Amino acid sequence: MRVHRRHFMELLGMSVAGSAMLSRAQSPIPVPAPPVTGPAGDNDRPEYHLLAPHNWMNDPNGPIFWKGKFHMFYQLNPNAAVWGDMHWGHAVSTDMIHWRHEAIALAPTPGGADSEGCFSGSAVVFNGVPTILYTGVQNAAPDKATIRDGQNKLRETQMIATADGDDIAHWVKTETPVIADPPADMQVTGFRDPCPWKEDDGWYLALGSGERGMGGCVLLYRSQDLRHWTYVGKLAQGMPGDSPTATDPVGSGDMWECPDFFEVNGTHCLYYSAKGKVILMTGDYDKAAHRFTQRHSGLLDHGSYYAAKSFVAPDGRRIVWGWIQESRPQAEFAAAGWSGVMSLPRQLRASADGQLIIEPAKEVELLRGTVVRSPLASGTPHRRTSETLRHEFAFNVKKHPASLEFRLQTGGAVRWRITLDYATGKVRCGSAEFALPAPVLGAADLRIFLDGSVIECFVGGREAVTNRVYGLIPGATTLVSEVKGPGSVELSHWPLNAISKDRLTS
Ligand code: FRU
Repeated sequence: MRVHRRHFMELLGMSVAGSAMLSRAQSPIPVPAPPVTGPAGDNDRPEYHLLAPHNWMNDPNGPIFWKGKFHMFYQLNPNAAVWGDMHWGHAVSTDMIHWRHEAIALAPTPGGADSEGCFSGSAVVFNGVPTILYTGVQNAAPDKATIRDGQNKLRETQMIATADGDDIAHWVKTETPVIADPPADMQVTGFRDPCPWKEDDGWYLALGSGERGMGGCVLLYRSQDLRHWTYVGKLAQGMPGDSPTATDPVGSGDMWECPDFFEVNGTHCLYYSAKGKVILMTGDYDKAAHRFTQRHSGLLDHGSYYAAKSFVAPDGRRIVWGWIQESRPQAEFAAAGWSGVMSLPRQLRASADGQLIIEPAKEVELLRGTVVRSPLASGTPHRRTSETLRHEFAFNVKKHPASLEFRLQTGGAVRWRITLDYATGKVRCGSAEFALPAPVLGAADLRIFLDGSVIECFVGGREAVTNRVYGLIPGATTLVSEVKGPGSVELSHWPLNAISKDRLTS
């Protein structure tokens, strides 16, 4: 049916005389905004987590505070949403929450020692100059290769770059490696991811390594100027990996990636990444013998979380970030055009008994909207549907019930759940199961952050578990909290704000 302009206006209840003015001042019919396509309109893509503007990212690299700003770098493939051609992406923030993208900080130099990639590393301030130590990789003959994973023939050396200017947007690389060879007597499975720190008698550096059939290890080096390094020995040595014949030594445990070593309120902490997890140890460091002895061990996170990296914030807090990996097939994230998310900043502390306390950094609260608090009654699930996928839930248990569960549902179908089972003393979440910890004083029994396809959970300030759930639809996802059995639990819910208008795609 053809609708004439006059008839059309009458249908809208508008006088034709008034229409000329209306058409200049405003459109008579609200024009729906075209749907946002690509990563900026992708419900799976988080809205308050840091992630690359597009394509692939993995490890957090070199977090540093300089001249009033937090800088975060990360492993970036600028050309595809799959791993490869590693550069250092760069983002800047005044609060560790609201990030803005900067130009790429480090790129491979053709023909140089990092021609095949600028791998992970750290940033420190040396003689008043922000300085990056990272691993460069280049193609090499098999007898010179240090990555022995049955696939790559790459040689890793440790490289240095210094910031040129206070915005630390430009970095000048020294093309010659500062550590050119692994220890002479070792057939390493890998040799990468430098982590430097300062002690009274100079600089020290931990490097991820290992030997096939002997286990992963952390190599320790010493220097006065960050440019000349002497091998000291092994800071820590693991047990032989799961399978000496496995081609991938990281998967078997014969290679430890991304070591991080530091003291936090009197306890030393060493963690590394292998077998898909960040494995942590707390214990004692003998500064004279340069040997770390483990007292407790655990996982920094029980889910999709890898290659963690920490730094000391200006107020002395130890803050850590991890790479939240995709858990869907490569074909799917390659088609989506983006892959990998940085976790929220987490604060690490040690309890009096030397165990690690893991909690979201307080800056995360900057994201919060207005809180709604509700007591949870046994047998009456608390349900919420929301137009966004940005939420924080905190559960405070005054008297524990038989179980406390939080789940995401589409219609009647459960898409994801975490259960604190007080009857059996277990936490179940995705494929993970671990002992329900006694909560640290002041920590919520359970805190959950949902952001698109990312769910970060903190249990009692002791354990963390990060999962991915794809295909959740805002407005059609029900967030259900449920207690079973008599108890006393209070739920606090905050809607959280986005940190950009376009899911950080620009
Ligand atoms: C960990 C890791 C590091 C390496 C980097 C390369 O995810 O394999 O050991 O430096 O990623 O992107």
